[in-house]
Amino acid sequence: MALNKTKNDTFDGTERLTVDYVKGILQPTPTCDSWDQIWNFQAKSDDLLIATYPKAGTTWTQEIVDLIQNEGDIEKSQRAPTHIRIPFIEWILPSVGSGLDQANEMPSPRTLKTHLPIQLLPPSFIEKNCKIIYVARNPKDNMVSYYHFQRMNKALPAPGTWEEYFESFLAGKVCWGSWHDHVKGWWKAKDQHRILYLFYEDLKKNPKHEIQKLAEFIGKNLDDEVLDKIVLHTSFDVMKQNPMANYSSIPTTIMNHSVSPFMRKGTVGDWKNHFTVAQNERFNEDYEKKMADTNITFHFQF
Ligand code: A3P
Repeated sequence: MALNKTKNDTFDGTERLTVDYVKGILQPTPTCDSWDQIWNFQAKSDDLLIATYPKAGTTWTQEIVDLIQNEGDIEKSQRAPTHIRIPFIEWILPSVGSGLDQANEMPSPRTLKTHLPIQLLPPSFIEKNCKIIYVARNPKDNMVSYYHFQRMNKALPAPGTWEEYFESFLAGKVCWGSWHDHVKGWWKAKDQHRILYLFYEDLKKNPKHEIQKLAEFIGKNLDDEVLDKIVLHTSFDVMKQNPMANYSSIPTTIMNHSVSPFMRKGTVGDWKNHFTVAQNERFNEDYEKKMADTNITFHFQF
């Protein structure tokens, strides 16, 4: 099946992109239309993949990883916006092209990004034993962040009211599917494959420690001074002002930062400003059921 470029090459945010189900997972239409090519993507053994559920701290991790790879050289990390430096494999960006084409044209070693749940990952990443970094974020903050992102990003469906969105999220009827299945699927896979599984909240609490972990996993031995430099450059306040990391280079007709900035709050616990008491109770009850078969839950305190 050919990549459906026409739909997205002309995508200017006048109307929102449509969505459809792929193997039960809601996906933006350009992703679905190029499905065979995504699955046939040939990963190389020295590829590094950053995998996340949307809004879990992907961009933050991308910036950290790029700086680790460049040993803290800020100028090098300024060479291009995030989405050019690290292709998003299942996406097609207007005026940039498909993440697959970007990846295929890129010299090795490559760093790539995906939001795919593990069951939809191109099999070559596992066959080639690629290193994979997975970042999870507590579901309540993740939901709030995703809601505001869908408000400002025309490449995703309009979220509806907060109450409507709350229900869609719990039902897994959002792009890239259910948060619960996503984090559980990757958590289960981490013991069989080369997966470093990290948490947004740990990055917030002790960024230096987590960056050190990432550096070790990537195979870079960085001294204290470089680590401190990376911590500073990837802090929320610095990244918010960094045009190469804050998505300000995407046309405002698509990502409208005046509706809600991409670098919105960058905090833990913002859900408390959004959830009603009744929503919180309902969320917790549903969470207990969906997460009864995993031990990942001890990482999420709320
Ligand atoms: P909020 O909407 O809660 O502010 P992703 O990159 O996966 O789309 O995730 C975006 C979320 O990560 C947003 O959350 C954004 O503000 C937050 N984020 C981005 N950079 C960050 C940083 N350096 N520190 C903390 N949070 C960051």
